[in-house]
Amino acid sequence: MEFWRRKKEALEGGETGESGKPGRRGRSTSLAVRPIPEDALILIPMRNAVLFPGVISPVAVGRSSSIAAANEAVRQSRKVGFVLQRDPKVDTIGPNDLHWVGTAGDIVRYVPSSEGAHHLAVQGETRFRITEFLEGWPFLVARVVWVPEATDGGEDVEARFLQLKTQAAEAIKLLPNVPDELAGAVQGIDSASQLCDMVANLLDIEGTEKQAILEAFDLKQRLDIVLAHLAGRVGVLRLSKEIGDKTKKEFDERQREHVLREQMRQIQKELGEGEDTAAELQELEKSLEAAGMPEEAFKHAKKEFKRLARMGEGSGEASMLRTWLELMAELPWKMDPQKAMDIAGARKVLDDDHFGLEKVKRRILEYLAVRKLNPEGKSPILCFVGPPGVGKTSLGQSIAKATGRKFQRVALGGLHDEAEIRGHRRTYIGALPGNVIQALKRAESRSGVLMLDEIDKLGAGGFHGDPSSALLEVLDPEQNAKFRDNYLGVDFDLSRVLFIATANVLDTIPGPLRDRMEIIHLPGYTEEEKLQIARKYLVKKQMEANGLKAGQASLTDATIREIVAGYTREAGVRSLEREIGSVLRNVAMRIAEAKAESVAVDAGDLHAILGARKFENEVALRTAMPGVATGLAWTPVGGDILFIEASKVPGTGKLILTGQLGDVMKESAQAALTLAKTRSGDALEKTDIHVHVPAGATPKDGPSAGVAMFLALTSLMQDKPIRPDVAMTGEISLRGLVLPIGGVKEKTLAALRAGITTIMLPRRNEKDLEDVPADARAKLNFVFLDKVEDAVKTAIL
Ligand SMILES: Nc1ncnc2c1ncn2[C@@H]1O[C@H](COP(=O)(O)OP(=O)(O)OP(=O)(O)O)[C@@H](O)[C@H]1O
Ligand SMILES: [Mg+2]
Repeated sequence: MEFWRRKKEALEGGETGESGKPGRRGRSTSLAVRPIPEDALILIPMRNAVLFPGVISPVAVGRSSSIAAANEAVRQSRKVGFVLQRDPKVDTIGPNDLHWVGTAGDIVRYVPSSEGAHHLAVQGETRFRITEFLEGWPFLVARVVWVPEATDGGEDVEARFLQLKTQAAEAIKLLPNVPDELAGAVQGIDSASQLCDMVANLLDIEGTEKQAILEAFDLKQRLDIVLAHLAGRVGVLRLSKEIGDKTKKEFDERQREHVLREQMRQIQKELGEGEDTAAELQELEKSLEAAGMPEEAFKHAKKEFKRLARMGEGSGEASMLRTWLELMAELPWKMDPQKAMDIAGARKVLDDDHFGLEKVKRRILEYLAVRKLNPEGKSPILCFVGPPGVGKTSLGQSIAKATGRKFQRVALGGLHDEAEIRGHRRTYIGALPGNVIQALKRAESRSGVLMLDEIDKLGAGGFHGDPSSALLEVLDPEQNAKFRDNYLGVDFDLSRVLFIATANVLDTIPGPLRDRMEIIHLPGYTEEEKLQIARKYLVKKQMEANGLKAGQASLTDATIREIVAGYTREAGVRSLEREIGSVLRNVAMRIAEAKAESVAVDAGDLHAILGARKFENEVALRTAMPGVATGLAWTPVGGDILFIEASKVPGTGKLILTGQLGDVMKESAQAALTLAKTRSGDALEKTDIHVHVPAGATPKDGPSAGVAMFLALTSLMQDKPIRPDVAMTGEISLRGLVLPIGGVKEKTLAALRAGITTIMLPRRNEKDLEDVPADARAKLNFVFLDKVEDAVKTAIL
């Protein structure tokens, strides 16, 4: 109390006064009458802000109690104590809602307002601690003790004071928009506590953190807290300044470069130099003019060229424009001089490159003949469909060779983005023209052969648009004379391009696309055909590839046959070519090691070179027991055989289906069972029938296993096995008719590969046998079915 009085005297200019009566006695509502004790302070609670000694700070008061407090303080020229609320959201304040340490100060300005908050400017003076709250006023009043401020803290404080000065100076330097006077003012302060409070006031920290500083009465401790906060702040400021500087530097550099370039251009102009870029531009202009663009495209290019010429070098936009203009100049707008198409010559090229494929070659020649007679005509697009390795891609190359055109390939497999076909708009960064335009640029011709490879593996349309719809536009003879690539931005005439598509399967090609193409099937080769292809083409090709000269290596027919039967199982000849390659590499090695001059490879040598046989005859391995039938299936990789197994288990007449069956196949099994039951007169009430189709490499589906299922069930019911050398295909009706199916050639070849000798086919497929090579036909026995009974007669002994 002694201290308080002294302090108060100091504060109030030596005026001595009695300590007032404790306000608890006698409540009066008249605030004018009731004096506030001298040792008490009017309090104004603050929601967020903390007032520090030595700081002038704006304070807004809105609550009626606070306004009353401010009014009374101004009226009596009293000091006010500003204290922080514990919870800023509380409106009606009691002692427990406040921190009990605050700063007393004078209201140096009061700006009342008719609505909303009144504004005060307050000058913080002295820390105080509340000892007791007094009641009886419409605002908060409390008895307080003043907290003395240490004037000298010794070396510890001095050191921190200096550090604070340095850091504060740095912070001021880093802060944008700080008045210069502030730096001077900070340097001028010679009291550690004053600087500490001033910095604390400026710190961008929470109210409670500021309160903690206010409550740190020990100066050394207070300096430590403030220093820690300031160091963090300076770190952040440094970093953001660094970032800001970098950005600014980059900007400045670009600006500088621009200015320098401009100056350079002016200087070059003065000196009559700078022909380099000018010459380049001139060249570009010339090649644009020579490119032979159609009117509209040329106008557009010309406009863009002028824009480029005006733009000056170096900007990103200029280089984008230049790239575009260069593409425009390079694109094959002009038609190549057309040689008259030599159909006989074309025939020779096709024969030279490909064995067999008579029907396919004939169709290709017809197509070429039509184009020769009517080059402007809208001919359909050819699409080669067939298993891998049957020569689809290489046929396309041969067509280009046969017609003297350039060949380019566009891989469509897995394309999901429409823009890959149609290009990105030029406004995109890194925009490119689509695949088609790029291929034409590579081909340097707009009448070349463009192979759209793997059109069946085109990704479905999604987020980035449907690639197949873009492709439609490319392939549609009605539209493709005005094909518009997004990047190009002008029409390009694709009508003279010879498009050839390839696919492994038909059904995954989107319908509208399929409609625009003429489908040509390449079903796969027989063993005999493979032998010929290997003898005439593959061995020669692989000898060259492995650096062998004619005569250095030879493969006997028996060797090739053994490779085909024991080391490959495919409709095409790709694995065959690869295996032949392995054999020839082995030969090349022996010759290189000078172990031999020339090597003839026998079938017997294969085991040593290629290892054990990879495939065995499956039918031979199969035991001939009742209930097993050999069906024939069509798969995207050629034909295949499949076994249908049926067996009886005790039950209630249910059909159990397991294995790799599609929905159509399941229905077909149901139909086969119904049919077998009616035909045998056996209702099978006490047994379940289990039909299983072992998993093959590819899942199969379709109705063509109907006959095989019926036969497996009949064989089971009669307990008689089916002849192991018979395979069958055909759809069945509930009345027992055998209906036609597809893929006769593929299925026949698969049966042959598997060692089957008799094939049962629907009668109505008899005509399809002409697709099957004669040598294969000669090796097989065909039985044609009208009704399911015909099958039973042939196959069940
Ligand atoms: N009838 C043939 N005569 C000669 N060589 C052939 C014949 N058929 C295929 N070939 C050869 O087989 C190899 C594979 O052919 P290609 O790459 O054209 O197969 P593809 O049908 O395009 O297969 P994919 O569907 O896997 O792309 C090529 O080296 C090709 O020359
Ligand atoms: Mg191919």
